[in-house]
Amino acid sequence: MDSVVIHSLTIVWLLSLGAAVSLPAKERCFQCKFLVETFKIGMEQTKKAHFAGGNTDWEERKLGKFATSETRFIEVLESTCRKELLADSTEFEFIKDIKHKCHTLVEKHEETLEDWFFHKQEKQPDLMHYFCFSELRSCCPTGHFGVACEPCPAVSKNLPPCFGRGQCDGEGIRDGSGKCKCDHGYVGSMCSNCDAHFYPVYQNDTAIECAECFDGCGSGCTAAGPKGCRSCRSGYIWDAEEGCKDIDECLENGKCTKVNEICVNSIGSYRCECGEGYRRNENQECEIDIEAQKSISNTTNESNDKESATVPSVDSEAITAGHSEL
Ligand SMILES: *[C@@H]1O[C@H](CO)[C@@H](O)[C@H](O)[C@H]1NC(C)=O
Ligand SMILES: *[C@@H]1O[C@H](CO)[C@@H](O)[C@H](O)[C@H]1NC(C)=O
Ligand SMILES: *[C@@H]1O[C@H](CO)[C@@H](O)[C@H](O)[C@H]1NC(C)=O
Repeated sequence: MDSVVIHSLTIVWLLSLGAAVSLPAKERCFQCKFLVETFKIGMEQTKKAHFAGGNTDWEERKLGKFATSETRFIEVLESTCRKELLADSTEFEFIKDIKHKCHTLVEKHEETLEDWFFHKQEKQPDLMHYFCFSELRSCCPTGHFGVACEPCPAVSKNLPPCFGRGQCDGEGIRDGSGKCKCDHGYVGSMCSNCDAHFYPVYQNDTAIECAECFDGCGSGCTAAGPKGCRSCRSGYIWDAEEGCKDIDECLENGKCTKVNEICVNSIGSYRCECGEGYRRNENQECEIDIEAQKSISNTTNESNDKESATVPSVDSEAITAGHSEL
């Protein structure tokens, strides 16, 4: 059924091609959306303003009349295009001078708005659909893209666009290629697969959730943690109990063999450093570092002092006594 509607829309659109506008598709759609959202606030406000609470026949008839009265329509138009009425207008910030553009749009299409207000608001309550999709043809319904509002990947299968794991290019704005730009960790034309180095935490025909593999995995994984790896990356070794485990290269012979050198293990690797109080010279040898040696001996003495001072620390009187000794 949807596709029939879309096809007839396409034909209408093709007929109106002669009057094609040069405005970028996104701005064209968002101007329309802005008008509709502010118009709807006007509808909401006037609904409240004239509703007294009772529901007698008389009141109902009176309210019913007001609902589609010229008076209300004028009141609604007074709210239309007023950005300050929107709780959050950030999505419209990219449009310069939006209020003025909106008023121009209202003037141009006032008859269409009137037609909806007086004759269609009951049967077709979705003004966005009526005004921006069907009448002005400046936007597409959710999950549709391009000049003909074609369904985004996955939508024709009754699923969320791009499996809910990516952005469909041109969605909603009668523009774009409809290709999915997948979120981090997801791949595929529909974003329905996990990327390399990710695994499915959860998966059924209509949904998938991927999470990143343990860092030490080599070629992907099937589950979380070191035990979920399919293989281990270099610097890691398979351990039956722990899975991919960092190799402590420092335990192997022949590492960091220069005089005064020490081996420091790191994740997936190791490095050679000079021992404390030594530094590497231009010949890459570890030579004594006079300054560092001094501070080491000072630190050593300090810590000795501290230790002797903190031994009786359980008793506060003893600490006081210790301090007075110093
Ligand atoms: C697939 O998973 C989603 C998310 O948990 C759930 O809403 C949906 O009902 C599931 N579908 C089937 C066919 O199991
Ligand atoms: C080590 O202590 C001596 C004397 O106590 C002092 O002269 C020297 O500056 C200290 N060195 C450092 C690096 O703190
Ligand atoms: C550190 O203590 C030792 C002996 O306890 C002493 O010979 C040396 O001079 C002290 N060093 C400094 C910098 O105070």
